[in-house]
This record gives sequence, structure tokens and C-alpha cells, in this order.
Amino acid sequence: MAARERAYFRAFRRVTTVVNSDAALKEVLDAIVRGTSRAMQAGVSLVLLDASREKLVHCCSWGLPRAYLQKGVLDARRSLAEVVTGQPVAISDVARDGRIQYSELAAKAGIVSMLGVPLVMKGMAVGSLRVYSRQRTEFSKQETNFVTAMANLAAVAIERDVQRQPGPPAGAQAGGALLRQARTAAFAHPSEEEFARILDFYNVEWIYEPRSFPLRWQGDVVTEMFTPDFYLPGFDLYVELTALKQSLVTEKNRKLRRLRELYPDVRITLLYKKDIHRLLAKYGFGPLAQARGRGVGRVLYSSVEIEQQVRKLAEQLSHDYADRHPVMVGVLRGVFCFMADLVRHMTIPVDVEFMAISYYGGATTASVKITKDMDLNAAGRHVIMVEDIVDTGLTLSYLLSHLMAKGPASVAVCALLDKRVRRIVNVPLDYIGFEVPDEFVVGYGLDYDEEYRNLPFIAILGSL
Ligand code: IMP
Repeated sequence: MAARERAYFRAFRRVTTVVNSDAALKEVLDAIVRGTSRAMQAGVSLVLLDASREKLVHCCSWGLPRAYLQKGVLDARRSLAEVVTGQPVAISDVARDGRIQYSELAAKAGIVSMLGVPLVMKGMAVGSLRVYSRQRTEFSKQETNFVTAMANLAAVAIERDVQRQPGPPAGAQAGGALLRQARTAAFAHPSEEEFARILDFYNVEWIYEPRSFPLRWQGDVVTEMFTPDFYLPGFDLYVELTALKQSLVTEKNRKLRRLRELYPDVRITLLYKKDIHRLLAKYGFGPLAQARGRGVGRVLYSSVEIEQQVRKLAEQLSHDYADRHPVMVGVLRGVFCFMADLVRHMTIPVDVEFMAISYYGGATTASVKITKDMDLNAAGRHVIMVEDIVDTGLTLSYLLSHLMAKGPASVAVCALLDKRVRRIVNVPLDYIGFEVPDEFVVGYGLDYDEEYRNLPFIAILGSL
């Protein structure tokens, strides 16, 4: 058997072992990309169609330079177009072929030939497996078949993952969910994600960390680089966001001056936090736009920060309760936003329950009364109490003792906000979103006199 065929078999053996294991989807896709790369002795990437089915976004890759990887969003029609035609596309000379969207970047990365095969799920293309060769290659039928088989394995892994997840198993949605994960994981700072969302909202094409500009050299060795946060191809403009300390802003300004000296044709702009907020506000996003209703003071957590944290909690709970089918019990009404988002990010079966309470009496005789109890029988079940905020801990401790009397198999507490400094009763919190200072906070379900519950962020209540 020829060396090439042996390499294919080795790749199949390795990859099918991972596909056949209970590894997470991202791990399986990484193994497929790595296996293909080794066997083909070339760089490989896996790109997925986003929910609009117009853009392709990088999911994982092997053997490609960072600068090329970070070119970001690709137009499905302008980049190889194998996902549009459903057919493999082979390009032997990248520099002279109009079917490559970023041919200049590809050439700089030493890429000479490319092969793209579609990832097809239930007859619908959801992405592509791409091979990038540094030598001029006329891809043979055998090579194309091998990459197609690897792409099919990737599609099987995605399909299986979709079936594991609750919700309708549409192909684009599979890509969409994975994409969201891949894209949000890539952002170094929440303000970058917020900015990207605005751009998405207005259909402005963007590329995250598009390329690195060498700024200083020692001989042939680059000693300083600068990587702008975004590139907007439609405006031929690089954007650097800065939500950082003044000392770091000064450093950034220095780098930008140097970049402009060395690359006079490159258009780059620095956006300060206040610029970003103003820009966001213009389109109805961000803290400035959201400060509707009088009396809202400083924003503690933006909607993006909350979403990131809630996603983390959901991942942790899904992992810890994998085979226990827990009952999630929310305490109304402040918990409604948190509960809705938390359970939607969970990947295991759960029951959702609510309890409601009222506070009775005056300043000295105040007591809690349950006005709505759980409907489900909690006996022998794994219960997770879900709280918006734990302040003195008095409410939670009362509810926990009420719950323990029902004989659950276990009880844990998941609180979005922990106002620890005000604790009177020492209640154990197993899962915490944020520790908040001793301030009255509103938004994301939390109210002041029934106001502010619908704010998408959490803010300190200002002076009224
Ligand atoms: P605890 O019994 O003192 O722990 O208070 C818990 C309840 O008080 C929460 O479920 C909230 O309804 C309310 N609460 C405490 N602190 C805040 C706050 O900063 N904003 C809004 N509601 C709060």
C-alpha cells in the first residue's frame, strides 16, 4: 500500500475512534481537522455557515498561520462557493483565481492551492472542510474523496450533537449554535462582542483580529506586533477598541502612531469606551441607550457579560447534573429572566418549577410567606434552587428548610447575584454568577418598586 493510502487509513482509524467516543463536538471536529491535515500534509480548516446562510465562519483549524485564520467572516458566495454549489471546489493557483475572497492574505500565508468540500447534513450544506497546500497541487479524485469522507464524518458528529440538544434539528441551526460558541469564545473582551453584535445587526461585514502588523524588528526577527480588533472590509477600515485603563490607552496610541508611519495606506481608528457606548446608543444598544427610566445609575453588568456568565453556569450545571434530571425551582418574580436564560443554555433534561413568596408585617415583625408552592413532588428528586439575588440570606434559608421537609435526594443553590457583604444567615451557595457590592441593584428581572425589571443589564439604582 502506498504511503499516502496508509496515511488515510491511519487518519480514519484515529478519527472514527474519536467520533465513536463521547467526546464533545468541538473535540471531535478538532480531531477531524487534525487528522485530515496530517494525512494531506497541508493546513486544514473547518468553516460553518451562520444562521443567515450567507457567511462562513471559522470553527477550527490545524497547520495554518494565525494571521490567516483570523481573517474571520467569509462570504459563502465569494469564497470557494462549495457550500453554495454542494460540490467540491479545487483551486490549483490561489494567486490567480477569483474564487478566493482573501487571495492576498492567502498568498502571504504561503498558500498556493486549495480544496474545499461541503459538509452536507440531510441534503443541506452546513459548512465546509478546506485544505490549504503550500505546494502547487492538482487535487486528485482520491484526495477529494478522502476529504469528502472526513467532511461526512464531521457532518455526522454535528448531526448527532444536534439530536442530543433540545430544539428543532435544522442544519443551519446546528452551524449557528456552534458558530455562536466559536465566535463568542474568540472575543477577548465583552465590549468586542457588543461591538460585533452591532455590526451584525447592521449587516456590516467584520473580521475579528484580522491580521498582525509588525512594528519593530531586530534583524529579521519581529520584536513588536500590533493586531487591531476588527477589520471592516466594506469600509476598508481597521478598528481598535479600547475600554482599558488610561496607561494602556497611551501605549495603544503609541503603537497606532507607529503603525500609521509604517503603513500609511492602512486606515485605522481607535474607539474609546465612551465612543463605543455612544455608537451603541445610536442604534439602541449599550448602557447609554438602555438607561431608560429615571434613576438608573452605573451599569454593573452589560447584557453580554450576563449572557456569558449565565452560559458558564448552565454549562457547569449540565455537567454536574448530567444523569440526574434535576428540578430547577425559581423564586418569583425577580428570577424570571435568569431562569429563562439559564435553562435555555442547559443541555440536559430539566424540570422547571416556580415558587412565589410575599413579605408580611412591619419593620420588626417582617416574615416570609409562601404564596405559591411547587407543583411537582420533590421527594427523591435533585433540586436546584434558582435565585436572582441572595442578600441577607433570610428568604433563602426559609425556603431551603421548607424544601428539605419534602425529602429531596439533594438540594443545591444557584444564585445569579451574591450580595455577600450583607449576609445574616449563612446559606451555602453552590453556583454563583457575580458577587455584587452592597448596593441596591436593578434590571434583568430585579425591580425597585416594580420598576426596571425589563432592563437587559444590571445597574446600581441611582439617586431618585
Ligand atoms: P434576602 O432574604 O435578604 O437574601 O433577600 C432576597 C430578596 O430580596 C431577593 O430575592 C430580592 O427579591 C430582594 N433583594 C435583595 N437585594 C436586592 C437588590 O439589590 N435589588 C433588588 N432586589 C433585592
